[in-house]
Amino acid sequence: THSRRLLGVQDGGGGRSLLPSRWKSSQPQLDPVDRSDEEGGGDIDWDNLGFGLTPTDYMYVMRCTQEEGGFSRGELARYGNIELSPSSGVLNYGQGLFEGLKAYRRADGPGYTLFRPEENARRMQHGAGRMCMPSPSVEQFVHAVKQTVLANKRWVPPQGKGALYLRPLLIGSGAILGLAPAPEYTFMIYAAPVGTYFKEGMAAINLLVEEEIHRAMPGGTGGVKTISNYAPVLKAQMDARSKGFADVLYLDSVHKRYVEEASSCNLFVVKGGAVATPATAGTILPGVTRRSIIELARDSGYQVEERLVSIDDLISADEVFCTGTAVGVTPVSTVRVQDRRRHAVEEAVHDSDVDPDGPGGGQERMDGCG
Ligand code: COI
Repeated sequence: THSRRLLGVQDGGGGRSLLPSRWKSSQPQLDPVDRSDEEGGGDIDWDNLGFGLTPTDYMYVMRCTQEEGGFSRGELARYGNIELSPSSGVLNYGQGLFEGLKAYRRADGPGYTLFRPEENARRMQHGAGRMCMPSPSVEQFVHAVKQTVLANKRWVPPQGKGALYLRPLLIGSGAILGLAPAPEYTFMIYAAPVGTYFKEGMAAINLLVEEEIHRAMPGGTGGVKTISNYAPVLKAQMDARSKGFADVLYLDSVHKRYVEEASSCNLFVVKGGAVATPATAGTILPGVTRRSIIELARDSGYQVEERLVSIDDLISADEVFCTGTAVGVTPVSTVRVQDRRRHAVEEAVHDSDVDPDGPGGGQERMDGCG
């Protein structure tokens, strides 16, 4: 069949891949039967997906060596662990990027819909330039995404229950010891069925403004989707979660007064019919959903501003929401600022009713932003 040809599967059993054995999975051992033509993801509870990793059947792998000078031919392989040199560029120096995009079951018949995959391809190309890596062409990227969806189609959730999340990775897989770009790169895509990202489901979330830990700095890599932007915010995110907040809102690292984005998504504020979001001037991730919302809002007649968004803009907003591939469009219910007095003083805004040392342990909670 078509998808069996796509997979390079030549027998009914093992799903033979043309990949070198070093890319074959050592573990986990998944169902060895090729089920790429089947529908239905086994025992999966489609109503309670959340955003966890459900291993699927196949991943896509494409390599690029110094001699080849570019990415040539990729292959589908069984999903599983990969072999990597201990001295690979990604493990030692964090030379890596990732992407996230979703495939949905179509409402109007068989087939799947991808949400703007070319945007992810272009963002990966841009990020690869920053991280000194070669990247797949837009055509290669989109082709690989489509192959990965088709090979894992039984894992695409039923309509309305979620999506198949695709996670493209571009890593410096070659061995290197001195600080330099790796001599070999690997592009991979794996897939997992997902539902809502936050445990709150579709309900509004509470955010905590982080005053000490910053996500990005001018001249840094905040504007590209490098893997190294994410582990450094885990501490802030875990602390916030332990206090009952869904995510953290980061401030700019220079003035410490402009909101940038959350750990997992971009931010929008709405005031008097005008929509504002932090401008992508190097420290904000240019989200595909962010761009789509800007375009949709402008097409619907809203005034949309990409600009600095201060804590005060946030506090006085009529509505606040977050956007991202994983989170979709998530309304924000409350935002807590630990030291609102400092921000109020810095912004020369008279705000006499806030006492940071008063009840609530020096914290001020602002409800009604949603
Ligand atoms: C996505 O929305 O796809 C992301 O990459 C965010 C990630 C933290 C889940």
